[in-house]
Amino acid sequence: MNHKIYLIAAADQKNGIGFKGKIPWDLKGDMKFFKKKTIKTDNANKLNMVVMGSTTWESLPEEHRPLSGRKNVVLAFDKNYKAEGATVAHSIEKALEEADERVETIFIVGGAKVYEQFAKRRDLTGIYLTRIQKEFKCDAFFPKIPPSFKPNLIKETEENGLRYQFLLYKKGK
Ligand SMILES: NC(=O)c1ccc[n+]([C@@H]2O[C@H](COP(=O)([O-])OP(=O)(O)OC[C@H]3O[C@@H](n4cnc5c(N)ncnc54)[C@H](OP(=O)(O)O)[C@@H]3O)[C@@H](O)[C@H]2O)c1
Repeated sequence: MNHKIYLIAAADQKNGIGFKGKIPWDLKGDMKFFKKKTIKTDNANKLNMVVMGSTTWESLPEEHRPLSGRKNVVLAFDKNYKAEGATVAHSIEKALEEADERVETIFIVGGAKVYEQFAKRRDLTGIYLTRIQKEFKCDAFFPKIPPSFKPNLIKETEENGLRYQFLLYKKGK
């Protein structure tokens, strides 16, 4: 199948995305953008698929997992790994095979190890990146964006004194 694949992430000025298994900021506007972007489909009979690593899955509060209104796929090497309400895949290829005809778009929702593998793929369609204009203490980082992807500003906003931009990186201009 030929689904569009997007990375979607929020990163600080130095590409930091997480610290000790958590996201270091709390931006309601970004959470809202993420929810809308990953849930909304053009075709009302379809749903989007979110793919994440086991660490990111475990970082979600139990009441928020699986992410509602989306097909959840969790990557884990451990063959006995269980993620209630989600499908567990043991490789990237197996995760992508979960995107059947009912799935409209695939969103890769983290974390660092998973973004890293998808950023290199030739079939990557684009990257939704929320860029926060501050530096936080982080131990997980967004990978280098391939130079063929150019940023387009969707909108800029401010929340709790923090400025941030919603960017969509696409191939070419
Ligand atoms: N700012 C953001 O937008 C954002 C978004 C998401 C997450 N985060 C942050 O990112 C951090 C987590 O990132 P992370 O790199 O530590 O972990 P991660 O990418 O969420 O998960 C890594 C785990 O996924 C599994 N995995 C990865 N690649 C695989 C493959 N090809 N096949 C099978 N399993 C695979 C492995 O699980 P097993 O070890 O269980 O086998 C691996 O240990 C947290 O701090 C989180 O809050 C930030």
